[in-house]
Amino acid sequence: MNRKTAIITGATKGIGRAIALKFLQEGYNIGICSRNQEELDQFRAAATTEFPQQRVIALQADLQLPAGAEAFGNSMLRAFEHIDVLVNNAGVFLPGTVLEETFSQLEQQINTNLYSAYILSQMIGKKMAEQTSGHIINICSLASLQAYAGGSSYSISKYAMLGMSDNFRAALKPYKVKVTAVCPGPTMSASWEGSGVPEEKLMPAEDIATMVFSCAETGFNTCVERLVINPLADL
Ligand SMILES: NC(=O)c1ccc[n+]([C@@H]2O[C@H](COP(=O)([O-])OP(=O)(O)OC[C@H]3O[C@@H](n4cnc5c(N)ncnc54)[C@H](OP(=O)(O)O)[C@@H]3O)[C@@H](O)[C@H]2O)c1
Repeated sequence: MNRKTAIITGATKGIGRAIALKFLQEGYNIGICSRNQEELDQFRAAATTEFPQQRVIALQADLQLPAGAEAFGNSMLRAFEHIDVLVNNAGVFLPGTVLEETFSQLEQQINTNLYSAYILSQMIGKKMAEQTSGHIINICSLASLQAYAGGSSYSISKYAMLGMSDNFRAALKPYKVKVTAVCPGPTMSASWEGSGVPEEKLMPAEDIATMVFSCAETGFNTCVERLVINPLADL
């Protein structure tokens, strides 16, 4: 069987994990990464038990470092002959406002949330251009569209990711490669644990995964460019 392939960064927890599981459930081979080897091993063991016919490549990579993103991208290019979907999901949130946060907070979030996605989009996007098919899906944020009180540098990194998505879309469109920016509001994940916000006010990560998969499955002439997803409840 000719299976499709999806690469998802930061897939051991939260939204990335839900997206990786959704693509597995839909029959894809997947390539994933995170920094924690033990969690990657646990994910791969559970996934290969449940989906024994599918390839699950789980590699340790620190995407905060350009060399880490490049090494992961090269491994994915070696592992898979054809890549259908790249989901740039890995990200960090460090609280702070522009008046008090340190420069290194901005640097860390730009490195992880923006530069890694840029490096991987360029590497995998070139392959998709050769294939004249493929889809890059960037997990941006509501903070890509509006200032985020208490998360200024995070918001700056996510605005930049949205602009990056538009630029990759324009560059890849002639090659029939799609680029989607997904902008979720508050979604249940490890980053909300201990925040005091009740879980029922947050969106389940599985709903974001369902929407991401729907974007990836549209017909050849349809591109969801931006998708904003919000909880009904006010926090
Ligand atoms: N949750 C929300 O409310 C929300 C809303 C809008 C957008 N988002 C965005 O959605 C994405 C996922 O968020 P989440 O809340 O699901 O996060 P999460 O639960 O903290 O999970 C983040 C994932 O990324 C990995 N990761 C973090 N830093 C990494 C690095 N330097 N290198 C490689 N992997 C790394 C983590 O594994 P390790 O820590 O083991 O590396 C983990 O697998 C992020 O881009 C976030 O900005 C989240």
